[in-house]
Amino acid sequence: MQERSPIGIFDSGYGGLTVLKDIKALLPDYDYLYLGDNARAPYGNRSFDTVYEYTLQCVQWFFKQGCELVILACNTASAKALRTIQQKYLPEIDPQKRVLGVIRPTSEVIGSYSPKRNIGILGTKGTILSGSYTIEIEKFFPEVKLYQHSCPMWVPLIENNEYESEGAQYFIEKDIKELLSQSAEIDCILLACTHYPLLINEIKKFIPSSIQLISQGEIVAKALKDYLIRNKEMEAKISKGKTIKFYTTDSVSEFNSQSLKFYGESVSANHALIT
Ligand code: DGL
Repeated sequence: MQERSPIGIFDSGYGGLTVLKDIKALLPDYDYLYLGDNARAPYGNRSFDTVYEYTLQCVQWFFKQGCELVILACNTASAKALRTIQQKYLPEIDPQKRVLGVIRPTSEVIGSYSPKRNIGILGTKGTILSGSYTIEIEKFFPEVKLYQHSCPMWVPLIENNEYESEGAQYFIEKDIKELLSQSAEIDCILLACTHYPLLINEIKKFIPSSIQLISQGEIVAKALKDYLIRNKEMEAKISKGKTIKFYTTDSVSEFNSQSLKFYGESVSANHALIT
């Protein structure tokens, strides 16, 4: 009988912890392995080829740890690497393994948060320029109008623990204004970057209370639950020991001290060497 394995959760850095928190709350029985590629974060401004190469190396690391199912809890990696991993890499190395992202599950439901059918999307440069949300949301909500804006300063401010500083406020206000100037009809803003929930309190200062702010954690957690209900064979391969192991490609002590803010608990991470 095949050994069971944890679900892999990947992000370029700390952002995926905001998703893991919601996944753990909804699906507490499974084992999880989290990897943050902090040494090479942020991914947001990097080229398509670089994001693909880094993400693939990290996915290969999860497979070496025995994972059968990996979630890219990172929009940038989902936008730039997921399709090639799913269509070219997995069929060659092991068609039974699965790598899933965050863009598709978010696109499946996002229309229901916007009664006026006018949605603002904030993300990294990589996510916004990839056009992935336009393509995916069009499939489920063709009548929805999208207004997108990239915020290249936000992830570096978060990864460098400067997100509550005056400098951060300047960039948050500037980016929100640029998004909202595109239409007065926007009634819902999707935070299409898993780092951005850290900024929710700051963002709220610059948007009217009538606009809903949507982050992805609960959406992705629910989609994973549905996926495991539908895919019994995969579900049977996941171990259920209620453990979570954390790995980072950079400083373990820095990861441990930052994790409290992203995950709500302090953790004891290990170092991962990615080659
Ligand atoms: N959490 C990643 C995302 O959702 C951050 C990207 C980055 O590293 O710039 O897009």
